[in-house]
Amino acid sequence: MMGKRALWVCFVLLSGYSLAHAEGNAAAGKEKSEACASCHGDDGNSNAPIFPKLASQHASYTAKQLREFKSEKRANPTMTAMAEPLSDADIDDLSAYFAQQKIKLEKAGAANPLGETIYRTGNASSGVPACTGCHGPDGAGNPSAMFPALRGQYAAYLEKTLSDFKAGARANDANSIMRSIAAKLSNEEITAVSGYASGLQ
Ligand code: HEC
Ligand code: HEC
Repeated sequence: MMGKRALWVCFVLLSGYSLAHAEGNAAAGKEKSEACASCHGDDGNSNAPIFPKLASQHASYTAKQLREFKSEKRANPTMTAMAEPLSDADIDDLSAYFAQQKIKLEKAGAANPLGETIYRTGNASSGVPACTGCHGPDGAGNPSAMFPALRGQYAAYLEKTLSDFKAGARANDANSIMRSIAAKLSNEEITAVSGYASGLQ
């Protein structure tokens, strides 16, 4: 028999865990997403490549980005203005809603040997690791590790955000993971791997 005290400790640990991983309410998120539709589309499939698609993205990653736009840890004046009025519950609800929407995938595109090599094996001579290791062979990412999905995302946005990591203009990645990788990519490699990751199915 477990003592009362041990049970209480388990309860506190478990409830703390679930609080830290609050699940949003997707139905409430749908209503709140009206403010986002003009740029990101009704269902998170944005209609211009300068606006990233939010559909199918892991809720954990989307929530992290919204909290960091709000605190200006991720610098973007438009998105900071959008995130400013959002409560923690709004952020979780919006993230749950977009995670449930289906992303419109991009066409696989023409053969892209440079992009494929960088994505699948990296570049040993410059020390770039394979993207597959974290973003997955099909670009689906990993929600528990907060590695975002890349497949179906607009190539132009992937290229912009990788260039921002490279320049340090985007600096909200834990332990500089993406900044240190992007710094080793040439501009040509950034363009190629962005096109390749966008076309993953
Ligand atoms: C006026 C246009 C506009 C509106 C309205 C807008 N956004 Fe954005 N959003 C952007 C732009 C531009 C970016 C890309 C920022 C960058 O390049 O770093 C972005 C990026 C994001 C990202 C990061 C995506 C990623 O893959 O990292 C999230 C999440 C996001 N927006 C959520 C929202 C939500 C939720 C709303 C509504 C509350 C919203 N946005 C409203 C323009 C907009
Ligand atoms: C060790 C794990 C790891 C590896 C390897 C890795 N990434 Fe990432 N990547 C991450 C993490 C973590 C984030 C989220 C950063 C954040 O929280 O803002 C990320 C974010 C990104 C984003 C931003 C997505 C968005 O929606 O804004 C792009 C683009 C990206 N990675 C591309 C790549 C490419 C291309 C490679 C291979 C050259 C690569 N990554 C290798 C961990 C990794």
